[in-house]
Amino acid sequence: MEQMLEQIKEAAQYIQGQYAERPQVGVVLGSGLGPFSEQIEKPTVISYQDIPHFPVSTVEGHAGKLFLGKLHKKNLAVMSGRFHYYEGYNFQQVVFPIRVMARLGIHTLIVTNAAGGINKSFTPGDLMIMEDHINLTGSNPLIGPNLSELGLRFPDMSTAYTPELRELAEKAAKARKIPVQKGVYIGITGPSFETPAEIRMMRVLGADAVGMSTVAEVIAARHVGLKILGISCITNMAAGMLNQPLTHEETKETAAKAQHKFIKLLQGIIAAL
Ligand code: HPA
Repeated sequence: MEQMLEQIKEAAQYIQGQYAERPQVGVVLGSGLGPFSEQIEKPTVISYQDIPHFPVSTVEGHAGKLFLGKLHKKNLAVMSGRFHYYEGYNFQQVVFPIRVMARLGIHTLIVTNAAGGINKSFTPGDLMIMEDHINLTGSNPLIGPNLSELGLRFPDMSTAYTPELRELAEKAAKARKIPVQKGVYIGITGPSFETPAEIRMMRVLGADAVGMSTVAEVIAARHVGLKILGISCITNMAAGMLNQPLTHEETKETAAKAQHKFIKLLQGIIAAL
């Protein structure tokens, strides 16, 4: 554990050596949402493989690069590509970059993801402001000795998704005439998609959308005291809702179609921060 603290510091030091300014806002881009990074003005781009102790992303459509630079006068650290439990990383590896960004000085984290729509009023291509989550992964990134330099043993999760940021996101969406949904994200490990019976169960549990990322990152971000905003791109209706099989291609295609809208919303949010 002490070793992990050292690793976080070393990774942050390396990044600071490449980019002298202090990022204020961290952004994690989900599947197919990578092109947002092109919005950053004259970015410093660092490959994950060059950052000490960073895991390396293996999923198609995830670039595995950290972009540092400004957008709307805010200093950003943007992760294009994230680490998933289903790739074989443990949750501590999955959340390592979040802890590094916190060490770099971010106070706010914007997490994005692709998710399957469970709420029957959703349509593929919708954007959803995350109001809360359900951790159905069966694990937690904070298991093990607590790193008290980072946060409390038992962090409060009652307002994990900062209410002021949710409100700000809703206003930014309205101002730009981008329709948004709101709802609860349920996180599972994947990589298999859910069964129709699991989706029916998740609906009963109160979930509006399901995905294979984000919850561990949000727990670790909350642990270090970051403010958090989460946005899901509903890339498909969840298993059993339509009479068709689910594919990663479909999720990528829908994410690509929603990209323009998503970038506009993120721009608006960052401008309003
Ligand atoms: N299930 C789980 N994860 C997902 C889905 C889904 O239907 N769509 C995009 N990510």
